[in-house]
This record gives sequence, structure tokens and C-alpha cells, in this order.
Amino acid sequence: MTQEIIAKYPSNIALVKYWGKHGNQLPCNASLSMTLTHAFTEVKLQCTPKNNAAIELAYFFEGKPKDSFKERIIKYASQQKEFATLLQQYAITIHSTNSFPHSTGIASSASAFAAIAAALLKATNTFTDTNFKNQASSLARLGSGSACRSFFGPFALWGNLENVENATNEFAIPINTVHENFSSMKDAILIVEDTPKKVSSSVGHALMNNHPYANARFLDANNNCKTMLSVLKNGDFETFIAITEREALTLHAMMMTSQDYYMLMKPETVFIIEQIFNFREETKLPVCFTLDAGPNIHLLYPASIEKNVNELIEQRLKNKLKSVLYDQAGLGGVVN
Ligand code: PMV
Repeated sequence: MTQEIIAKYPSNIALVKYWGKHGNQLPCNASLSMTLTHAFTEVKLQCTPKNNAAIELAYFFEGKPKDSFKERIIKYASQQKEFATLLQQYAITIHSTNSFPHSTGIASSASAFAAIAAALLKATNTFTDTNFKNQASSLARLGSGSACRSFFGPFALWGNLENVENATNEFAIPINTVHENFSSMKDAILIVEDTPKKVSSSVGHALMNNHPYANARFLDANNNCKTMLSVLKNGDFETFIAITEREALTLHAMMMTSQDYYMLMKPETVFIIEQIFNFREETKLPVCFTLDAGPNIHLLYPASIEKNVNELIEQRLKNKLKSVLYDQAGLGGVVN
């Protein structure tokens, strides 16, 4: 009989960025992210018993077979000992859909690998309820590093961090006791370009291996994680903004100063950042930006100033934008 599992997991946006890895998808520094709500991947996993040991896996994205991602999943799944028996005994079919369009600055590999890892792990039945999230987070990490943070919310920390109990490179941990200033954070994702990025994250991570500023960067990120953990408790918007924006610019500075340098920001990105600076200077409202590995902007603000931020978007930014996706902090995914 065919067993069916549905997993629905959100993406996340890093405030302190993971950029640089070693070993088996282990991060060179700790990172801290906000989990999203509306940007999610939903996976339907079907397992049908079979008699031969060869791997049988079919992958459909938005209803159509997608061979490039299928190969990536087969490689990923066959490398995890946790999935060995499942792959031997069952033919697997995965139907995946995203709630958000392609190449919009939302990390689709984060939500996709969170959902795929959770669904596969659930199908194995080899976990206890208490360790499911940690184990799934660890397995998701092996597919795409940032995916491990999508299991926890509203914020998640991933990576060893001095004096932070439970922090580990293996999986993310929840940061769920946060000041009310941050518990209802919104994220308006401002799309200036919706074509796929030219340089993949894996190439970007690899360029940190012989980057002249690597060690300073890793130290800075760990310090930013420590400060951000205090900020999330004490509600200090000013420091939140300073860390978040400097982290975004540092990520792009790392790309621009790699041996094989490249630039993902567009003129519209810089224009919008200037408008955000001006708006904040004029209104003193706590709105700030972050960037993923791409030109699109995540505008972060508390729900209390939503009206003002909508005005900012409508009056000053709209003519530079292809679209806007409205999201907010969330608590992670579900699998059944
Ligand atoms: O998870 P990956 O390997 O796609 O890397 C993600 C890297 C950034 O999105 C740029 C930063 C982060 O921490 O999510």
C-alpha cells in the first residue's frame, strides 16, 4: 500500500549570514534568521513498496518532472544512512510546489530541503517525537545549509557559539523568547529582478575558502550573533537595524572582494537602500533592509508601522519594483 506524507515548510531570511562552509555542510560561522510564514514549499511524498533494491525516485515540481532537481535529491538522499532502508524498500514519488514565484530572493532551497528532509525522515519512522525537529534540521542542513533554520521560529540560530548552550553546527535551535518589538516582524520582499542568479550559493561559499577577509568575517558574524541574541530579548531596534544592514552589506562585500569577484546588487537595489536610509532619517521609524544572495530587498519592520511602510513602498519605491511579496515571522513547518 502506498504511504503518503505531506510536509509544508517555510523559507527563512538570515539576519546574520551564513557564508562559507567546511566538512559535511558545516558553517564557518554561526548565523541567525527569521523564519517566514507565507513563503513555503509543500511536498507530497508517496512511498510504494518495491521488490528490487535499485533507487526509484520521481520528482515533480508544480506538476511537471524536473530532472535537474531530481538528480540533486537522489544524490542527497542516497548519501544519508538514515534514508538507506527507505530507498531500498520503497519507490518514492515527490510532488513539490512553492507558494512563491521562482528567483525572487526567497531561498527556495531552504524551504524545499526542509520539507523534503522532514517528509523522508517521517517516512522512515526512525525517530522519537522529542528529537524529530533536531534530526530533521540536521538532515535538511545536508541538502542546503540554510534549510536547517526553517524548523524553528520566529527566529533560529545555527552554529557553534561560545557561551550559548545548545548552539551547534549540526542543526539549528529555536530563538523563541523574543521582545514584543520583534515577535510580529514583517518582511516585504521587494522584487527588482526575477531572473535566476548568475552565481550559485555553493560557488559563493567556496570562494570564502581563500578569501583574504575570511577569518575577520567569521569572527564578526559570531559577534553579531551574540549581540543579536541580546537584542532580540531587550527589544533594541537601533542595534537590530545596525547589525541587520551591516550583515547584508558585508555578505555582498564578501562577493565583491572574492578572488573571482562578482556583484549581485543592481542599480535599483542601491536606489532602494538610499530611499530606506532617507525614510528612516525623516521618520525615525524602525524599518531596515536585508539582502539575500541576490539583488532583491527584504524590508523588515514591526507590524505596528505597517501603514507607514506601505506608504514608503507605494510613494517612493513602487516604480523600481517588479512585485512585492508580503511575509511575516512564523514558527516553522508541519509534517503529517
Ligand atoms: O543554504 P545555502 O547553501 O543556499 O546558503 C545560503 C546563504 C545565504 O542565503 C546567502 C545566507 C544565509 O544564511 O541564508
